[in-house]
Amino acid sequence: MWNNVVIVGAQWGDEGKGKVVDALAARFDIVARYQGGANAGHTVVVDGTKFILQLLPAGIVRPDKTAVIGNGLVVNPESLFEEVERVEKAGVPIGKRLVVSDRAHLILPYHRSHEVAAEQARGVGKIGTTAKGIGPCYEDKAGRRGLRTGDLRNFEVFRRKCGEVVAEKNRLASAIFAGTPLEADGLAERYYEKARCILPYLADVSAYLNREMDRGKRVLFEGAQGTMLDLDHGTYPFVTSSSAAAGGACTGTGVGPTRIDAVVGVSKAYATRVGSGPFPTEALGVEGEKIRERGGEYGAVTGRPRRCGWFDVPAARYSARLNDLKALVITKLDILDHLAEIPVGVEYDLDGRTTTEFPSEIELLEGVKVRYHVMPGWQQPTYGVKDYAQLPKKAQEYLRFLADQAGVEIAVVSTGPQRDQMIWMKEL
Ligand code: GDP
Ligand code: IMO
Ligand code: MG
Repeated sequence: MWNNVVIVGAQWGDEGKGKVVDALAARFDIVARYQGGANAGHTVVVDGTKFILQLLPAGIVRPDKTAVIGNGLVVNPESLFEEVERVEKAGVPIGKRLVVSDRAHLILPYHRSHEVAAEQARGVGKIGTTAKGIGPCYEDKAGRRGLRTGDLRNFEVFRRKCGEVVAEKNRLASAIFAGTPLEADGLAERYYEKARCILPYLADVSAYLNREMDRGKRVLFEGAQGTMLDLDHGTYPFVTSSSAAAGGACTGTGVGPTRIDAVVGVSKAYATRVGSGPFPTEALGVEGEKIRERGGEYGAVTGRPRRCGWFDVPAARYSARLNDLKALVITKLDILDHLAEIPVGVEYDLDGRTTTEFPSEIELLEGVKVRYHVMPGWQQPTYGVKDYAQLPKKAQEYLRFLADQAGVEIAVVSTGPQRDQMIWMKEL
């Protein structure tokens, strides 16, 4: 039996991780997010109420679970508490069920403004970020000048550190751009006033999780974004700035790798990507638009239309290897119900060379040609089906093909946004 499991996006994010984490959370005690920030939008639908979670782990909607925000996240306390308020207003009390790492980095107002300026300066080469200050905050973390949640424990310490960072930022900014300098004391005071409500939630998350695991509690680690957006392994530089792949679960919570029993990947039955960057199996034109409309493929937070396309076998195999996936959850099968034929991208042609490997060079990926295997569609409704035997034969064949090609067993199939619209093929 798996006690501690990582749920990771196997594609470019928005695979349905929120729904899957919520469904699986029933069998766990603690749900811990390990990276990212409010760039995430994880949708959970419970009895017709829709929650879009950005910083709070999806486990928060189950009143008997503890939700943990790991050190690997970047947190804007003001938006965290707006989210807490939204969830509580929807009838889910949070109280003491939230634990926030005292080592998580803080997003400050200048992170957002610097991100907007950097994106503008990139022009057509822009990444298409979520404009939440994620990248600049992680830059400061790696640059060893970040402020952390624990720094809020002592206002004088916070103000001093803030002063040092702001002085450095102003020196740089005045050398590069002519702009109004930041004023550190005012910024520290305003920020502290809004941010201090996080203090009662702070803890050493590594100590907390390891202690709870020692007591036999089960932890579900919730990834945000997806493997193909991982800072190291994704389609760099069109990635997010954190370790979204499963390895991030260890560094992002302070839990050793051998304490985790398995990694489960979540993938749509097709593919989507939001923002710029290579997307080999993208379906342009009417085909892509049809999937977008049927699948409601618009950003959960930003509302941006998602680019849509077909299941990508080389990307799935890559993700399976990187994360050592022990099982796959395939979501949104129902969105393909209307199609007479469903292409699956099985191989890449890179400069005349055929491969199922995922290349590292962005220049190669941008020119990739995909060889498709076209599967017959089932053209029958699968929405809400809960029993594998009730799926049309051709839908079963499609799933089998994906599993064979990706080299990973499919454990669960999702057939709708609701918690119970799932087919459990294997006990996890
Ligand atoms: P996440 O970021 O990985 O949690 O995914 P998002 O919440 O951003 O996007 C997934 C969307 O698909 C949400 O609107 C979900 O409610 C919805 N969804 C998830 N699974 C299914 C499914 O099996 N069928 C349908 N029709 N919708 C689903
Ligand atoms: P969830 O957790 C899909 C994308 C952005 C952009 C790139 C960098 O809901 O799956 P960032 O703001 O992180 O610096 O943007 O990453 N991106 C996501 N795409 N799902 C997400 O989260 C994403 N979070 C960031 O669109 O291309
Ligand atoms: Mg999302």
